[in-house]
Amino acid sequence: MGRASVELESWLLTLWLLLCSWGCLASAELRAPPDKIAIIGAGIGGTSSAYYLRQKFGKDVKIDVFERQEVGGRLATLNVEGQDFEAGGSIIHPLNLHMKRFVKDLGLSTVPASGGLVGVYNGETLVFEESSWFIINMIKLVWHYGFQTLRMHMWVEDILDKFMRIYRYQSHDYAFSSVEKLLHAVGGDDFLGLLNHTLHETLQKAGFSEKFINEMVAPIMKVNYGQSTDLSAFVGAVSMTGADSGLWAVEGGNKVVCSRLLKASKGNLISGSVMFIEEKTRTKLTGNPTKMYEVVYQTGSETLSDFYDIVLVATPLNQKMSNITFLNFDPPIEEFDQSYQQIVTTLIKGELNSTVFSSRAKDQFGLSTVLVTDNSDLFINSIAIVSPVREEENPLPSTDGTYVWKIFSPDVLSKKQIMKYFLSYDYAVKKAWRAYPLYKPPQKCPSIILHDRLYYVNGIEFAASAMEMSAIAGYNAALLAYHRWNGNADMIDQDGLYEKLKTEL
Ligand SMILES: Cc1cc2nc3c(=O)[nH]c(=O)nc-3n(C[C@H](O)[C@H](O)[C@H](O)COP(=O)(O)OP(=O)(O)OC[C@H]3O[C@@H](n4cnc5c(N)ncnc54)[C@H](O)[C@@H]3O)c2cc1C
Ligand SMILES: *[C@@H]1O[C@H](CO)[C@@H](O)[C@H](O)[C@H]1NC(C)=O
Ligand SMILES: *[C@@H]1O[C@H](CO)[C@@H](O)[C@H](O)[C@H]1NC(C)=O
Ligand SMILES: *[C@@H]1O[C@H](CO)[C@@H](O)[C@H](O)[C@H]1NC(C)=O
Repeated sequence: MGRASVELESWLLTLWLLLCSWGCLASAELRAPPDKIAIIGAGIGGTSSAYYLRQKFGKDVKIDVFERQEVGGRLATLNVEGQDFEAGGSIIHPLNLHMKRFVKDLGLSTVPASGGLVGVYNGETLVFEESSWFIINMIKLVWHYGFQTLRMHMWVEDILDKFMRIYRYQSHDYAFSSVEKLLHAVGGDDFLGLLNHTLHETLQKAGFSEKFINEMVAPIMKVNYGQSTDLSAFVGAVSMTGADSGLWAVEGGNKVVCSRLLKASKGNLISGSVMFIEEKTRTKLTGNPTKMYEVVYQTGSETLSDFYDIVLVATPLNQKMSNITFLNFDPPIEEFDQSYQQIVTTLIKGELNSTVFSSRAKDQFGLSTVLVTDNSDLFINSIAIVSPVREEENPLPSTDGTYVWKIFSPDVLSKKQIMKYFLSYDYAVKKAWRAYPLYKPPQKCPSIILHDRLYYVNGIEFAASAMEMSAIAGYNAALLAYHRWNGNADMIDQDGLYEKLKTEL
């Protein structure tokens, strides 16, 4: 007995040594991590990049995150009489798995983001009105549109189903060097085709009626992307998921995810505006001349600069939005002049003039969201009752019986325009955004790799702009930067991943 166990022990020791030597060899092959990484932009794209870069490169790398305005970027709140409301990115889909995991890992909570009845107004009349009875909605929908609603649901579900493959690829550490390759890996040529065609022509070809596209699909594009059904079919599908049930938001405001990610990543926030990026050769402490990126930024009236091994740009590269100049790159880094759609969010506390939409008596109006068709010729894209970021139940009227309404519009609303929709109001705040790209298929996405160790996170917005898309892009950029740093070519742009990972546990 004793002997056998000694033998077993020595055998285990040998095995352990063998395993260790493999382990040690493998880690000896890993290049030392970079000293410093810069991320430009502290929205969800930049802060999720910081979070994943920390996971990949370990505790020693210094991560600086530059932000010239507020952490959160297009996730922000506006205050109405002491309560905060989402002013930018608001709703999150139940299958947005990165956002879901952030909330869980960062100890945050969620609040339901939907509720209330929806109507569609065409400029003259309500062409569709939701009822609080599920069965009545079904009958209404079938009556108006046959089974197109159901088919639409299946069309979207099929795209979403494929898109979800990205989570499996990312959990196995695979990265992609372009948005097109990422989309191809999840859905093949069919997916790339969705970037090349308008939603309108895609749905027409699939047999959906003009009436259905105009009354059911167009209003959803308008509220989510401020654009017509001439946007590309991929972003169209992403937008349609915004009509699913189970939508949620982060309690306390979606932007809290960004500040928590930044904290968890131990990133160093630098309040400043990046002006220039230039590649220069530096002699590091180790004595070797190394190519690094100099990041020149302005804080207050001071202009400062610092050197980085890796730089991630996590803001739209657009002169009006980020105004970053790439100096002396050979070949030069292409100009990105794709324009962004302006959207103005206006929050109004007041009493709606429901007669604008319906002749029914005020107390029988009952809708809490009015969407509009494309031909409605109105100056608003949508109007809806909203709940504060800390409220768990459906919105309640304040003591004077009024609600807080959110209007999206392409332009800033005048007092007179607001008064068209309200009997009276006592409070209005607004925020104008360059909200998301103006989608014009065939849609090309900007490169992710701008230069050797210089990456662009926001190119993914040209496929579709959403919080989850930025989180996916942030993860991808972190993985890509890591694998390229370590020369792991076999982890980048792999074909047939779906088949390959299907058999793996
Ligand atoms: C009105 C509106 C409604 C939306 N609704 C939804 C929704 O319901 N659901 C959803 O999923 N998505 C929604 N979106 C989209 C979503 O908000 C965005 O896709 C997402 O927030 C983009 O995050 P980002 O980090 O990529 O970019 P941003 O949030 O824009 O972050 C970029 C950051 O970089 C900073 N920056 C820029 N230039 C510099 C510089 N030179 N130096 C330093 N810092 C710089 C900016 O100040 C900014 O904070 C909505 C957007 C808007 C505007
Ligand atoms: C999409 O259009 C581009 C031209 O804009 C073309 O090069 C590409 O092959 C098309 N892709 C698909 C999948 O149709
Ligand atoms: C962009 O930056 C340059 C140089 O930093 C500056 O001269 C110019 O005014 C800026 N443009 C905008 C639109 O902010
Ligand atoms: C409410 O809207 C209707 C229809 O636009 C309009 O006729 C009416 O004057 C408005 N009421 C008030 C009090 O503004």
